[in-house]
Amino acid sequence: MKIILLFGSPGAGKGTQSKNIIHKYGFNHIATGDLLRNAIINNTELGVQAKKYMDKGNLVPDDLVVRMIEKQIDKFPDSTGFVFDGFPRTVKQAEAFDKVLSKKGLSVSFMLALNVEKEELKERLKKRAEEEGRVDDTPEIIEKRIKVYLDKTAPVADYYKKQGKFHEISGMGTVDEIFNQITSIIDS
Ligand code: AP5
Ligand code: MG
Repeated sequence: MKIILLFGSPGAGKGTQSKNIIHKYGFNHIATGDLLRNAIINNTELGVQAKKYMDKGNLVPDDLVVRMIEKQIDKFPDSTGFVFDGFPRTVKQAEAFDKVLSKKGLSVSFMLALNVEKEELKERLKKRAEEEGRVDDTPEIIEKRIKVYLDKTAPVADYYKKQGKFHEISGMGTVDEIFNQITSIIDS
């Protein structure tokens, strides 16, 4: 069972590369942002709670996210691997995730970080705003999300570095070039 954590700033290409990975390897994709946006569309209790944070570019509280993740893993009992996209996003989430996994006899295989320059992130998200109209893709909220990433999420890298599970690659270049680097790490 492979458990891959795709890590990176807003706009780094986590969603794009997750799709490529699940297509090639047949793994299941667990994207906390997508799950939370679905909860909002379906107006569930989680969605109502999450919306208050997401609209401002803040993180949804750790306990809500960890509970959601645990439920989601249980939906795929026969999975051969998972790609986590946008999770864990705080050191607390990383610690809680290790506990959740160890109860199931599982552990994280590795974290793959996509490193992208800030100007390029903003360009990509500006373009996506025109194409998809995600409500948090406005210039102010993009700026806020990048700040929250640097303050709260970037330290998660150290958590996995200490476990010897951290790989960083350049997230600049074409989608295919980046995917080639990803497959060479997964296959090694
Ligand atoms: P989330 O949905 O995870 O958003 P994010 O982290 O801000 O990341 P994005 O989805 O914006 O970027 P991405 O890295 O997936 O890039 P993509 O592939 O789309 O989270 C949203 C919110 O939910 C958070 O702010 C928070 O409130 C909440 N949340 C989620 N998870 C949480 C958690 N664990 N804890 C607490 N709260 C949580 O690419 C971006 C664009 O660039 C696309 O248009 C794409 O086509 C394009 N692109 C991709 N690759 C390339 C390339 N190589 N060259 C050119 N363009 C490219
Ligand atoms: Mg995404």
